[in-house]
Amino acid sequence: MSDQYRTEIAGHELSPESLMMGYGYRPEWSEGALKSPIFQTSTFTFTSAAEGKRFFAISYGLVEPEEGESAGLIYSRLNNPDLEILEHRLTLWDGADQSLVFASGMAAITSTLLTFLDPGTVLVHTAPLYGGTDHFINHVLPRFQIETVEWHHGMTVDDVAAEVGDRTLAAVLMETPANPTNELFSISAAKELADRYRSEDNPAPVMVDNTFLGPMFQHPLKHGADIVLYSATKYIGGHSDLIAGAALGSHELMTRVTETRTILGTMATPLTGWLMMRSLETLSLRMTRQMENAKKVAAFLVDHPKVAKVSYLGLLEPDDEGYDIYMEQCDGPGAMISIWVDGGETEAFRFLDSLQLAHLAVSLGSTETLVQHPASMTHAAIPKELRDKVGIVDNLVRLSVGIEDASDIKQDLINGFNEVKLL
Ligand SMILES: Cc1ncc(COP(=O)(O)O)c(C=O)c1O
Repeated sequence: MSDQYRTEIAGHELSPESLMMGYGYRPEWSEGALKSPIFQTSTFTFTSAAEGKRFFAISYGLVEPEEGESAGLIYSRLNNPDLEILEHRLTLWDGADQSLVFASGMAAITSTLLTFLDPGTVLVHTAPLYGGTDHFINHVLPRFQIETVEWHHGMTVDDVAAEVGDRTLAAVLMETPANPTNELFSISAAKELADRYRSEDNPAPVMVDNTFLGPMFQHPLKHGADIVLYSATKYIGGHSDLIAGAALGSHELMTRVTETRTILGTMATPLTGWLMMRSLETLSLRMTRQMENAKKVAAFLVDHPKVAKVSYLGLLEPDDEGYDIYMEQCDGPGAMISIWVDGGETEAFRFLDSLQLAHLAVSLGSTETLVQHPASMTHAAIPKELRDKVGIVDNLVRLSVGIEDASDIKQDLINGFNEVKLL
């Protein structure tokens, strides 16, 4: 193995935190530059026509590469150094063979789903889902005769299998914890379901949108998932300054997704790749601090008289629904808090409008604390009936805790609640 992929020193295994600054890159490739430059180029020159032919043959899967050989650089829709280095680094957190970076979380989710779904097959998905994902599943996939089955909280594997019946289950898409309610779904149960339908021609992958907890606090591949998906706009990017997505899994599955990404052109740009490498260096620091802040904020919210209910994974007790799943598959509670303000939309809006430190904006996982109103914003397009069923109601506010001082965040929330006068 060449130096840039070294993951141990004298038998001591290095952690991802240590590898984020250099893994997959060698300064001698770029005039000694410590950081990888931004390879702002659309295309790459070949040293000979034969080399170009070979690169294309490998990239298009027309020949088997030799041991250690990979497709050389061709064209930035297919590959680019900033994306390749980043993709190598991203695999380390989730223990994946391969990762692929996309122009957005939606690009990652839609490209991956389209890779495995065919007309007449069934996609099982947990509910609720992020509004954009829900829209794609319920408004775009049906145009291609792809059928769907919703997996609601409390349904067993047998219940879901009964709904799929003798149709072909082609994939399971899970969002756990679910955005915006923090509900948990069991990855091992999804694997049990998919196993019933798998065959040589049908990998029926279990895909987990790990945006809320990953890649620090949940590692779905270790619990039976086949593909991990991210809106990398969130914790991975972490600074509210880029839009990106990622898909991770085995070489076999990612080879298939690569083809879709190449043909749809849903890859990220070199600048986005470079920014994400910058972000990955502080990922662990940021996510740990956000989680510590969120624990303090959640503890304060539980007893607040103007909070009807609060959902935060760190508050789960052994008798609570979801506790067993949390213990089985999560490594920490993260920093997403769902708050049901006492009252309705009026009270929720008054609270949101009164905050001075937290920013009223959609998105999450960034260094600054963000708040939003899912029923009228991120999840507005979901039919009200489903929103009511899963708790995306008018008094729900979603809080993404940032890295500010926890007591400042608390003070901001106290002031906000003081402005909520019950009608
Ligand atoms: C859980 C989840 N998945 C996917 C997405 C879509 O990601 P993007 O906005 O990067 O396309 C979001 C966006 O909010 C999200 O919260």
